[in-house]
Amino acid sequence: MEVVQFLIQITLFLWSLSNAIPAVASQPSLAKQGCQRDCGMDTIPIPYPFGIGAGCFMNEWFEITCDNSTNISPRIPIPRLNHASLKQLEVLNLSMDGTLSVRNPITLFSDCGTGRPLAEQAPNLTGSPFVFSKRNRLVSVSCGGNTSMKLMNGSTVGWCSATCGDKGGLLDQAYGPNNCNGSNCCQTTIPGNLTNFNTSFQEVKDPLKASDTTSESGSCKYAFLVDEAWVVPGPDLRYLVGVPGVLEWNWSQYTKSEIYGTASTTIWDAINLSTGTVCTSNNSCSCANGLEGNPYVFDGCQDIDECKDPNRCGPGKTCRNTFRSFECQSRFNVAIIVISCIVGLLFIHIGAWWSHRVIMKRKVINRKRKFFQQNGGFLLEQQLSSGEANVDKIKLFSAEELEKATDLFSVERILGRGGQGTVYKGMLANGRIVAVKKSKSVVSGDEVRQFINEIVILSQVIQKNVVKLMGCCLETEVPLLVYEFIQNGTLSHYIQHQNEEFPLTWEMRLRVATEVAGALSYLHSAVSRPIYHRDIKSSNILLDDKYRAKVADFGTSRSVAIDKTHLTMTQVNGTFGYLDPEYFQTSQFTDKSDVYSYGVVLVELLTGRKPIFKTESQEPMSLSHYFLLSMDENRLFDILDARVVKDARKEEIMVVANLAKSCLNLNGKKRPTMKEVEAELQGIHLSLKNFDVQQNFDVDHVQTRMNEVWDVDSASTHEPSTSFSSPFDVEPLLFIRTE
Ligand SMILES: *[C@@H]1O[C@H](CO)[C@@H](O)[C@H](O)[C@H]1NC(C)=O
Ligand SMILES: *[C@@H]1O[C@H](CO)[C@@H](O)[C@H](O)[C@H]1NC(C)=O
Ligand SMILES: *[C@@H]1O[C@H](CO)[C@@H](O)[C@H](O)[C@H]1NC(C)=O
Ligand SMILES: *[C@@H]1O[C@H](CO)[C@@H](O)[C@H](O)[C@H]1NC(C)=O
Ligand SMILES: *[C@@H]1O[C@H](CO)[C@@H](O)[C@H](O)[C@H]1NC(C)=O
Ligand SMILES: *[C@@H]1O[C@H](CO)[C@@H](O)[C@H](O)[C@H]1NC(C)=O
Ligand SMILES: *[C@@H]1O[C@H](CO)[C@@H](O)[C@H](O)[C@H]1NC(C)=O
Ligand SMILES: *[C@@H]1O[C@H](CO)[C@@H](O)[C@H](O)[C@H]1NC(C)=O
Ligand SMILES: *[C@@H]1O[C@H](CO)[C@@H](O)[C@H](O)[C@H]1NC(C)=O
Ligand SMILES: *[C@@H]1O[C@H](CO)[C@@H](O)[C@H](O)[C@H]1NC(C)=O
Ligand SMILES: *[C@@H]1O[C@H](CO)[C@@H](O)[C@H](O)[C@H]1NC(C)=O
Repeated sequence: MEVVQFLIQITLFLWSLSNAIPAVASQPSLAKQGCQRDCGMDTIPIPYPFGIGAGCFMNEWFEITCDNSTNISPRIPIPRLNHASLKQLEVLNLSMDGTLSVRNPITLFSDCGTGRPLAEQAPNLTGSPFVFSKRNRLVSVSCGGNTSMKLMNGSTVGWCSATCGDKGGLLDQAYGPNNCNGSNCCQTTIPGNLTNFNTSFQEVKDPLKASDTTSESGSCKYAFLVDEAWVVPGPDLRYLVGVPGVLEWNWSQYTKSEIYGTASTTIWDAINLSTGTVCTSNNSCSCANGLEGNPYVFDGCQDIDECKDPNRCGPGKTCRNTFRSFECQSRFNVAIIVISCIVGLLFIHIGAWWSHRVIMKRKVINRKRKFFQQNGGFLLEQQLSSGEANVDKIKLFSAEELEKATDLFSVERILGRGGQGTVYKGMLANGRIVAVKKSKSVVSGDEVRQFINEIVILSQVIQKNVVKLMGCCLETEVPLLVYEFIQNGTLSHYIQHQNEEFPLTWEMRLRVATEVAGALSYLHSAVSRPIYHRDIKSSNILLDDKYRAKVADFGTSRSVAIDKTHLTMTQVNGTFGYLDPEYFQTSQFTDKSDVYSYGVVLVELLTGRKPIFKTESQEPMSLSHYFLLSMDENRLFDILDARVVKDARKEEIMVVANLAKSCLNLNGKKRPTMKEVEAELQGIHLSLKNFDVQQNFDVDHVQTRMNEVWDVDSASTHEPSTSFSSPFDVEPLLFIRTE
């Protein structure tokens, strides 16, 4: 008997495996909240109204017990209907379509040597909410027998007869869903609403096989009610504990509140979208289309994720789950969305970067604008637009342009340094070499107006012997002036550093003197308003590549109204050694003050000496004073430059010397004008002979008292640092600090 029990259990186990239930129970939970969702193994979900434990089932008919008493390993707990009249019927499947699958007993009409009890009947379902489903078939396996299904009042609801076929006496594997049509196995349908029946067996003698005794007693006889969908072929009926049968629930006998609880207000016969349930008038409920789960528990119906099926939308499309439905989007669209997002992000980044740039740029522009205004840019623009200045001649350079031109004002580009600014050599984008003068100080107040005036004046000067102002830049903190670049340095450098390679010939000296005189003459008279240079000196005269003179540095220059003859200065400006003594005394600067300074340059050219020099006794000596003294003492030829004596004729020297003497006249009125000086020099230069000096000018012996004041040191402090032997070995006096 032990062996038989064991075999039964094994068969049961194998049968369970063969019916392996797919894991449908994972989600959603079909049980009532807080209740055991399945029995032990995650195989058979227990949906409400069924439930394990108190409060988890609708009423006692739906109580499930989880039987773990089986002592054969593996211990698979078995769910059973707990109600007494249901005889602990084993539950195989509980589904929400109103059916449940149970293990129906197999009724044996002979024990077949198994020792199992005979005539075990199906449970009595009368009074329960369950009925045997029409999906069941009554099956009988025998060799010549009439099996009938009878109700309590004795009426037959179904029968079938099986002839004795060629199967053996045990008929243990005679049943198969496709080979049960009369030979050893027969089956019949049953009526619906069946609750209680007995099956009985009546032997039928086969006339052809009358002698066959096995049909009488030796052969096995089985009957059972089985789900027509059960397709396991040839099971050994001797040891099978039962076969799956289908029961139906009758919801109609329960009120809504019995099913849903008193809190429930589910409306029947309508889809309730919030609960997702659909119920018919016979109280059969289901989840609405697109939902799954238990319609009999609150929120039991959950959306189906249709997109779990990888082939839902077919190739090239992406599935997107929606409530109760899904959408198929072509991958292309998805790609477009993704790309759009990326592009969008990119744009946001670019936008941020761009706006940052714009803000920075605006800051720079505002800064430039501030400087432009501070540097008198608007004043200049106004002057330019009023036509007062020559628009074409002044270019407003941008800060970047000049930064680029001067290598960000590199120290290596410095041509010269002065008291008020630094001159850089620069190359413009068009390849043109320029000199960029950078003011040391920030201009402010009245100086702005003066500064702009300077630019305007210089813009009006068009003379080949005046250094040309090309433009300016007002965007920087300190204003920048851009001049043409003059290659060969200052005249003073040539006078003081004479060598054999570049001898300063008489002809050259005469030409330079003539050119400077021409430039000054032009400034004094040719332009609309006279301009006084106010700082004529040999270091302000530059020599270009052809050794032509260029008057530079109009920093202290002033234009005067035509009706005025002089400027009254509160502070004497100029360079010691060149300073007009009359101006020094009266503070009145006239055109003749420039003539005096020019006279000193002329003497420099004649003698090759500095305007202030040291005598043999190391006494500082004013060159003009020394020159006039020598002229008076007829010692002119003792003080002349050797080169001059060598090159020039005596008459020419005398003419120039006398001209210089007249320029140095202490009385300004007696000095010649620059125009006269120019004419005279042109005469000498052109003829260079037979020139009779007209003593037009009264040359007074002048004894200045300045040589007592001046000394070499004080003079040199006013000179730019002499270490610069560049063309701009000049003092860049851009702005007048006096009024
Ligand atoms: C069987 O279940 C009961 C309660 O349902 C539990 O107390 C018992 O420990 C279980 N036995 C085994 C072997 O799992
Ligand atoms: C249980 O019932 C559900 C719903 O009817 C069905 O899909 C499933 O296959 C059944 N399982 C077994 C083991 O019969
Ligand atoms: C079946 O059950 C019902 C109610 O429980 C009872 O009235 C009836 O007699 C039972 N039938 C049989 C054959 O036991
Ligand atoms: C089988 O039994 C039923 C009822 O007892 C009867 O109606 C039927 O005619 C029988 N069939 C045969 C073939 O004897
Ligand atoms: C079924 O048979 C049993 C005895 O075998 C009897 O007690 C019961 O009343 C019968 N039920 C019906 C419905 O015939
Ligand atoms: C037995 O009861 C069923 C309904 O339960 C009925 O249809 C049938 O006619 C009854 N048979 C007899 C013989 O009373
Ligand atoms: C049962 O049906 C099958 C197929 O329809 C057939 O081959 C077989 O002969 C039938 N058996 C009987 C006893 O009718
Ligand atoms: C079951 O009985 C109900 C009435 O109680 C009836 O409406 C229904 O049609 C029956 N079902 C079948 C399959 O006979
Ligand atoms: C279902 O229950 C209702 C109400 O109790 C009853 O009228 C009906 O006959 C039952 N149907 C079945 C098939 O048991
Ligand atoms: C759906 O059910 C909920 C909760 O049971 C209820 O509040 C709601 O009114 C119902 N909606 C409809 C349309 O019946
Ligand atoms: C309930 O009624 C519907 C039709 O309204 C029917 O299709 C379904 O089979 C019925 N269910 C039960 C258990 O009677």
